[in-house]
Amino acid sequence: MTQAEAVLRANWREGVRRDGAPFAFTCPSPRRYKHQWYWDSCFHAIAWSHIDPERAKQELRTLLRAGRPDGFIPHTAFWQASPRWRRAPLYATAHYRGDTGTESIQTPLLAFAWERVANGDRSFIEEGLAPLATHAQWLMHERDPDGDGLLTILLPDESGLDDSPKYDAVYGPLAHWKPGYARLVQRCRRANWSAATIARTSDEHVEDVLVNVAHALSLRALHRMTGDDAWDRHATKTEQALLERCWSAKRGLFFDLAGRAERQVEISTWSSLAPLALPLPADVRERLANEHLLHPRRYGARFGVPSVSMEEPSFRPGFNAYRTWRGAAWVNAAWLLAGGLRTLGADDEADRLAGNVADAIERSGFREYYHPRTGSGHGEHRFGFSTLVVDLFSSPTAGVAPKA
Ligand code: GLC
Repeated sequence: MTQAEAVLRANWREGVRRDGAPFAFTCPSPRRYKHQWYWDSCFHAIAWSHIDPERAKQELRTLLRAGRPDGFIPHTAFWQASPRWRRAPLYATAHYRGDTGTESIQTPLLAFAWERVANGDRSFIEEGLAPLATHAQWLMHERDPDGDGLLTILLPDESGLDDSPKYDAVYGPLAHWKPGYARLVQRCRRANWSAATIARTSDEHVEDVLVNVAHALSLRALHRMTGDDAWDRHATKTEQALLERCWSAKRGLFFDLAGRAERQVEISTWSSLAPLALPLPADVRERLANEHLLHPRRYGARFGVPSVSMEEPSFRPGFNAYRTWRGAAWVNAAWLLAGGLRTLGADDEADRLAGNVADAIERSGFREYYHPRTGSGHGEHRFGFSTLVVDLFSSPTAGVAPKA
């Protein structure tokens, strides 16, 4: 706990933006990731809530403040400085200079994190309700052009899983790790970031399983926080759509739907297991757990949860300067899935997984990701969301709020 606290405190940034807007958030890492990232902030806030609940609240308030009145909240918010010119083409902004955030989204966990951080504090809940509802409405209105309950992402990194092999065939030369990515961003700019236009005119877009699991978790949190059944209906619609359209009974996994044909992308990544965290039928979740997550040749590694099944030909567990999410283990995956195991009553397995993650951190420190077989740490040092490990142990339903 004290080491996690040291990382979070060292990465804490507060001040006032040039236009007078105040900010207070944790940057993911001091060297490479200096801005505020949407899902990182949700994870930081959940970790902070065990250490300094006031900072957890400030972090989430800052994230809301980064958004627009229409409910859009950016993937990355630039509070202290613009992205440097060298990296600017890689940020999905409206212009090359002067923007306060990207035009892209990231896996929408905010309402879920808000409820966890509130921890029953009614006035904090009340403060969030209107903007969180507007945010969920924006996502449903702007990012579900076919109205099937599943949100669409335009850029692969909108899920947070930037270079995952599940996007290779969908994005081809426009993939996040290829030079063509700049063209993909340019195309989105030209279409004014309209998912409706892009979904109608191209095949490079995805109804992403992980993004929709987060969306459903947030809708369920909104239901609990408001008592309004409309949120329950929205959550159920998303969960049913995942089950009806993304579930492969043959493989026992959930797959993204790609392009206009909405074809299932049959690559096993940890996102295929993420619906374990939702209140879906127990037989489906048991298959995810027993046939995959706990299976020694697939995801049952010594350290954490590999981001890609160890059986996939694309599985690469080590470091690669240009590609991430292709096999290494991130702490947030174990966090979400351990919570799912607990809802199945598999507490021993969840504890073992939490212990494995803690072993990797003990060996290698708070790194961005870990080799799932050796526990060696890679990528950034002092990485913020690896501190989620504090929530893996201390919360009885880690990662998953109790069912409504
Ligand atoms: C990388 C990760 C993404 C994360 C960001 C900041 O781009 O792929 O998930 O949000 O870094 O940590």
